Amino acid sequence: MRELKELFDNNKQWAEQTREQDPQFFEKLAEQQAPPYLWIGCADSRVPANQIVGLDPGEVFVHRNVANVVSHTDFNCLSVVQYAVEVLKVQHIIVCGHYGCGGVAGALSDAPLGLIDNWLRHIKDVYETSKLTEGESGEMDVNTLCELNVAAQVRNVCHTTIVQDAWRRGQTLSVHGWIYSLADGILKDLDLCISNPDQLAEIYRMGG
Ligand code: CO
Repeated sequence: MRELKELFDNNKQWAEQTREQDPQFFEKLAEQQAPPYLWIGCADSRVPANQIVGLDPGEVFVHRNVANVVSHTDFNCLSVVQYAVEVLKVQHIIVCGHYGCGGVAGALSDAPLGLIDNWLRHIKDVYETSKLTEGESGEMDVNTLCELNVAAQVRNVCHTTIVQDAWRRGQTLSVHGWIYSLADGILKDLDLCISNPDQLAEIYRMGG
């Protein structure tokens, strides 16, 4: 007997329903992938990219990890960004965090969680940097750090050689910072949109 049979049953039903609505759906999808968006979000099971923004398969390229971190030494994430920008030529990169993020809460806590603590160090760095630069004092709540983390990861996307090269070539590319509320399913634009290197701190701008 096949393991996890209910998932295969669900899949069969979904494929049939999809074909009923659009008989050519899978043929069209197999021919090409040209999504205009790259979504970088949290791996949290409650934040499924396509569903939240009402997009079908083929309409958004997705990378998810714990707490939507973009690290300049993470070849997994960088490869996704490079493929999305240089091959798929997406026009928008959306970094989407969410309130009540367990990864962010874990970073704020001193409870040891294991290997993941090394990953969450990136969020601790966001916390510490924002305290230094913004003069944040006292206790910081999880949701404030969720927003600061989105802002930091938007900047990290923009600092990559991939995005800077794209702008230098004249490619249209905007990087957005959004946050999602688990409580009501609503997305909020944090108004962090960056579309050119002039919006970045000088040390991160690459000329030439
Ligand atoms: Co999360």
